[in-house]
Amino acid sequence: MDSTLRPELFDFHGVMMTHFFTDNWNNYQNFQARPDDILIATYPKAGTTWVSYILDLLYFGQTSTDRNKSIPIYERVPFLEIDIPGLDKGKDLADNLTTSPRLIKTHLPVQFVPKSFWEQNCRIVYVARNAKDNMVSFYHFDRMSKLQPESGEWSSFFQRFLDGKMLFGSWYDHVNGWWKKKETYSKLHYMFYEDLVENTGGEIAKLCSFLGKSASTGEIETLSGSVQFDNMKKDKMANYSTFPEMDAKISPFMRKGKVGDWKNHFTVAQNKAFDEDYKKKMTDPTLQFRTEI
Ligand code: A3P
Repeated sequence: MDSTLRPELFDFHGVMMTHFFTDNWNNYQNFQARPDDILIATYPKAGTTWVSYILDLLYFGQTSTDRNKSIPIYERVPFLEIDIPGLDKGKDLADNLTTSPRLIKTHLPVQFVPKSFWEQNCRIVYVARNAKDNMVSFYHFDRMSKLQPESGEWSSFFQRFLDGKMLFGSWYDHVNGWWKKKETYSKLHYMFYEDLVENTGGEIAKLCSFLGKSASTGEIETLSGSVQFDNMKKDKMANYSTFPEMDAKISPFMRKGKVGDWKNHFTVAQNKAFDEDYKKKMTDPTLQFRTEI
């Protein structure tokens, strides 16, 4: 593909998307889920790779060490809706998975999830990250990934985020839409990036209980150690250094992995504008985020 051509955003059923995630729409909407499939759903840059890696190690880490050494995370946990020229479509990779369970990643807002996941009553893990850090991480990702629309200057990116004109739509709609789904769909585990940073082992234990998996305290401690930022950053199978369209020289995929990095990006005026706007948009008192820990 011509990597100089960054895709444009356009309105797709009320959500901003690029053609890389809509070209295969009809196909992936007909994805046939299996009851034991596990869907990892997130807004981009909320900790998708981290949770994918945790689940992958939890299910397959003991039995298949070759897998950890030779298959990149984006193949172990296919990205359902992705369709980039020259690479396998996410839907096909998911169809061809031979593992049980199959771990599948999506960034789709809840209303776009293929119906078969609901019909099969699949377990879904949703990871959410506070908007400020999510925005900063997204900005650096748009700078380094040629599959993304141009980031533009920080100040215009900041405004675009508040306006919800981001790939996969508004952060505000995404986190709220999935949160609301919990009321009617019980097999949804909604977790927060900040909790995972603060207490990785505790969050892994909660995941195990949701997944109906037993793991000893020792196993959880070991896993928690292997998935810490510095370890994942070094791991070529997790750090996206093998992914052709990303330029780690501009900004590494495993960038900082911190809560509160927004303080290094937001001006005082931006922070004030953000907080005022946030209060208007985030009116559900049951959904609370932490911007520092
Ligand atoms: P930063 O850009 O803030 O560093 P996604 O996988 O959804 O694209 O999210 C990427 C973000 O998750 C990046 O955030 C990345 O550094 C962070 N991340 C990935 N693995 C992590 C880990 N083990 N610990 C903490 N953060 C991690």
